[in-house]
This record gives sequence, structure tokens and C-alpha cells, in this order.
Amino acid sequence: MPIITGITKHLGGTEKETPKQQFFYGLVQKNVLVTGGSGQLGKELGRLTDRLNLPFRFLFTDVDDLDVTDREELSRFVKDYRILYIINCAAYTAVDKAEEDSDKAYLVNGKAVENIAIVSKQEGVKVIHISTDFVFDGQSEIPYTENMEPHPLSVYGQSKLKGEEALQAVGGEWMIIRTSWLYSQYGNNFVKTMIGLMQERERLTIVDDQYGTPTYAADLAELIIHILQFSEETEWKRGIYHFSNKGETTWFRFAEEIKRITGIGGCELIPVKTHEYGAAAPRPAYSVMDLSKVCSTFRVEIPKWEEALKRCVDALIND
Ligand SMILES: NC(=O)c1ccc[n+]([C@@H]2O[C@H](COP(=O)([O-])OP(=O)(O)OC[C@H]3O[C@@H](n4cnc5c(N)ncnc54)[C@H](OP(=O)(O)O)[C@@H]3O)[C@@H](O)[C@H]2O)c1
Repeated sequence: MPIITGITKHLGGTEKETPKQQFFYGLVQKNVLVTGGSGQLGKELGRLTDRLNLPFRFLFTDVDDLDVTDREELSRFVKDYRILYIINCAAYTAVDKAEEDSDKAYLVNGKAVENIAIVSKQEGVKVIHISTDFVFDGQSEIPYTENMEPHPLSVYGQSKLKGEEALQAVGGEWMIIRTSWLYSQYGNNFVKTMIGLMQERERLTIVDDQYGTPTYAADLAELIIHILQFSEETEWKRGIYHFSNKGETTWFRFAEEIKRITGIGGCELIPVKTHEYGAAAPRPAYSVMDLSKVCSTFRVEIPKWEEALKRCVDALIND
């Protein structure tokens, strides 16, 4: 059963191309730079592209190979490898730490994105950049659409908005995909943290008054690859898009579902209010995003968050 139906339709699911097709693809492969390739989204992109025969060659880099805050290094890399697309997964994602470490957050989430925008425009490269629901203040009572005004509450959210603004101001060929509550089998995220803590502790307090939608990074990776294919076959659709899994929940209910799916017993989950929890960075009380634009533009169907969580837990158990 396809995850995002458009992708598997295009790529033939698990079916591999014939040797002749593979030879042909070898000749026409297009180079795609993935920055932040060791992060959770970067790794999910690696896992996905490993199992598909695509007419692209993916160059996965992280800060040690290619520091996106260094514009000259980036420009050299893009020219040397004749890059045609950049998928920018590099980011400073420590939301609470960013309140104290704002220079670094602005450098990686703002200035480095401006570097990518400038180099890409100069070299005719198309950019898929990842942003966040934390650009919103959470005051809306309906799911956020792409044309609603951002108003970030935290340093992290402000720094990510700077990156979005830089891409738009420089004016090359960009797409911005805002996502929310990202998790995967890789890296640090809520799902893995909860599984670890539920096994260690007798009780856990979890915020129950922030509403949003979890996103399985494997599904976002599928969307990104689908967009590359779509752009090659039809046209590049510059713009901002919202992508998460479908539905909405709170962190507390998300944790309850993790507990239910994993079957971990013996840990009591206690709902608390945001102010009782006392995180360093303010977060939007409501950041559910409207997904209709991404679905209609790229003709994809998005799985519900509960179903996606089940797939991630299965991957954690089986891999
Ligand atoms: N995680 C979430 O809940 C969430 C929610 C909404 C949106 N997003 C967005 O989704 C995207 C992917 O997030 P993620 O969770 O995959 O992030 P992640 O796991 O933190 O990965 C980011 C990667 O970027 C690397 N990086 C940092 N500075 C760099 C630099 N100067 N040059 C090159 N690479 C650099 C990091 O390396 P180090 O680890 O060595 O620093 C890390 O490997 C980000 O744009 C993020 O803002 C994330």
C-alpha cells in the first residue's frame, strides 16, 4: 500500500528498473546536494534513495564536509559537482538552547540559507528548503495556511523565518516546506525520547495544551523525492508548502499513543500545562497546518499521524 500515493505511482514502488534503464539513468543522472545529511530528515532521505533507482545522484553532506555558513565553500561545491538541486536539511534545531545561543541559530537558520539562496541563484540551482510551524504564534483557531502571517515566538522560530525571507528576497527558484513535530528512527526526537523515558521512569509529565501534528520524517522524505520527480516531469512550482501527517493532537496524547503502540507498561503519563512544564523557549499553543496546497499541487495523499507513528515504531523495532 503506497504511503504517499503519488510517489509510488511515479517510482514504481519497490520495482527496480531494468539494467538498460539503469544504464540510461547513469548517463542522465542529475546531481542533488543534500545538506545536513546526518540529521534525522537527511538520514531518512538516504534510506529512501538507497532503495530506489532514480535519475538523480544524491550527494549527502553534513557540517564536516560542507559547512553551509561558508558561502565560498558552498559555491565551490555547487560548481565542482554541477549541482542542479539543493535539499537543505541543515539547521540549528535545538529550540530551547537557541534562546541562549541566538548567534549560532541565526547563522545556521538565517545567514546560511541566504548563502544557499545567493549561490543557487547564481548557478541556476533549484532549492527545496525545510522550515517550521514555529514561525507561527499559535493564536489561530483554524489550521494555518501558507498565506497566513508568520509571527514567531522563539529565537528558533525567528531564525527560521529569516531563512525563509532570505530565499524569497534573493528570488531564485525556491520551495519552502514547513513541517512540524518531526520524528524518525534516527537522531533525537520526541518519539525516541519518550520510549527511553517510559522504560526508565515510573511517571512522566507531558504538556497537554499545545496542539499540533507530528510528522514522520520518512513521509517528508517521500514528499521531497516526489517533488523532484514532479518538477522534472511537469514544472517547478515555486512557493511555500505546509507538510505534516494528517490530524492533530497534543504532546500528551502523542505520548499516550506511543505508549499504546509500543506496549510499554508501568509508566504513568501525567498531563500538565505549558507554564507548569517551564521550557526555556515559548512555543505556539496551536500550530496545526492546512495541508490542502501540497496535496493539490503535487497530487499526493498524506497518511494520518497515528498510522505513520506505527510505521516508525515498526522501523525502530526491525532495523
Ligand atoms: N526536529 C523537528 O521537530 C522539526 C520540526 C519542524 C521543522 N524542522 C525542520 O526540519 C529540518 C530538518 O530537521 P531535523 O530534525 O532533521 O534536524 P537535525 O536532525 O537537527 O539535523 C540538522 C543537521 O544539520 C547539520 N548542521 C548544523 N549546522 C550545519 C552547518 N553549518 N552546515 C551543514 N550542516 C549543518 C546538523 O549537524 P550537527 O548535529 O552536527 O549540528 C545536523 O546533522 C530543519 O530545517 C528543521 O528546522 C524540524
